[in-house]
Amino acid sequence: DNTLKAAAEAKGRYFGTAIERGDLGVSGEIAVAGAQFDMLTPANEMKWDTVEPSRGSYNFGPGDQLVQFARSKGMRVRGHNLVWQNQLPSWVSNLPLDQVRSAMEAHITAEATHYKGQVYAWDVINEPFNGDGSFVPDVFYRAMGSGYFADALRTAHAADPGAKLYINDYGIEGGNAKSDALYRLAQSLLAQGVPLGGIGFESHFILGQVPSDMQANMQRFANLGLDVAVTELDDRIQLPASGAALQQQGTDYAAVARDCLAVSRCVGVSQWGVDDAHSWIPGTFPGTGAATMYDGNDQPKPSYYAALSALGGS
Ligand code: G3I
Repeated sequence: DNTLKAAAEAKGRYFGTAIERGDLGVSGEIAVAGAQFDMLTPANEMKWDTVEPSRGSYNFGPGDQLVQFARSKGMRVRGHNLVWQNQLPSWVSNLPLDQVRSAMEAHITAEATHYKGQVYAWDVINEPFNGDGSFVPDVFYRAMGSGYFADALRTAHAADPGAKLYINDYGIEGGNAKSDALYRLAQSLLAQGVPLGGIGFESHFILGQVPSDMQANMQRFANLGLDVAVTELDDRIQLPASGAALQQQGTDYAAVARDCLAVSRCVGVSQWGVDDAHSWIPGTFPGTGAATMYDGNDQPKPSYYAALSALGGS
C-alpha cells in the first residue's frame, strides 16, 4: 500500500483529487493524479456557467473530457456541483423569481441525466450557509426559501437514483453555528424523507487549525444515517514555507486522515488539486500557498508521507 489510493482502499475508503481540464496537458501533475488518486472531482467543468451558459443550451464537453480521463485511470467521479450561487450564469441570477424553480429543476434533470451512472456522488447543493448559520440569500433562496433543498435533492434523485446526493460546504468541519445550522437542516430533510445521502466537509484549512472536534462533528452527521466525506482538503502555509511548517502540515493531513478512518461512514478524502503549482490558494490568498501534499515539481512533501502513514500505508 505505497500509494494514497491503495492505502485508502485497504481501509475501505477512497483518496481523491480535483483537476480541471487544463491540467490534463500537464504531464507531471497528471502522472501523480493517475498514480495516487482513485476519485476525481472536476474543479470547474460541471458547474452551471460551463454546463448551461444560456437557458436550455447545454455544454457537457468539458465535463465529459474529465469523466473520460477518470475512466481511463480507473478513477470514480464526484460530480461538482448542481446548485451554487457562484459560477452561476447571470441569466439565472436575473430570472424573475417565479421562474427560478423550473430553471433549477431543468438544469438538475439535464445534468444528472447526462451523467447518470457515471458519477459516484453529486454535490447537489454547494455552500448554502453563511458563517453565522443563516442561509445565503442567493436567487434560489429568494425564490423558494429553504424549500429549494428538498426540491433540488428530489429532482437529482429522480434523474440518477444511483448517485449519493450531498450538501457540501466549508467552515463546517468543527462544531460551530454554521455546522449546527447544517445539522438541523439535514435532520429536517431526512425527517421529510428527502434523498439526502451525505455531507461534504470541504476542509480548506489554515496550517495548524484542523478543528480538534472534526471527528466528533463528522460522527454526529453520520449518526443521522448519512455518509460523510472530506471533499476539498488543503492546508495553506504562509510563504515561504519553513521546514517546521511543512512538518506541521504533515500533522494536519494525518489528523484529517485519522478522523476519516475513525468514522465508519466517512467514505473518503479528496484533496483540492494535485500539487502546489496548480493549487487555487496563492491566487485567492496572496502570500500563502504550499497547501497540497505535492510540491511545485510534483515531489511528495512531508504531508504526503504523513497522510500515507496515517492511512496505514508506507
Ligand atoms: O478559464 C478561465 C480562463 O480562460 C481565463 O483566462 C482566466 C482568467 O481569470 O480565468 C479562467 O477561469 C478561472 C477558473 O477557475 C478556471 O481556472 C476563473 O477565473 C476562476 O474564478 C475559477 O476559480 C475556481 C473557483 O472555484 C471559482 O469559484 C477554481 O478554479 C476552483 O478550484 C474553485 O473551486 C471551489 C469549489 O468549487 C467550491 N469550494 C471552494 C473551491 C475553491 O475556491
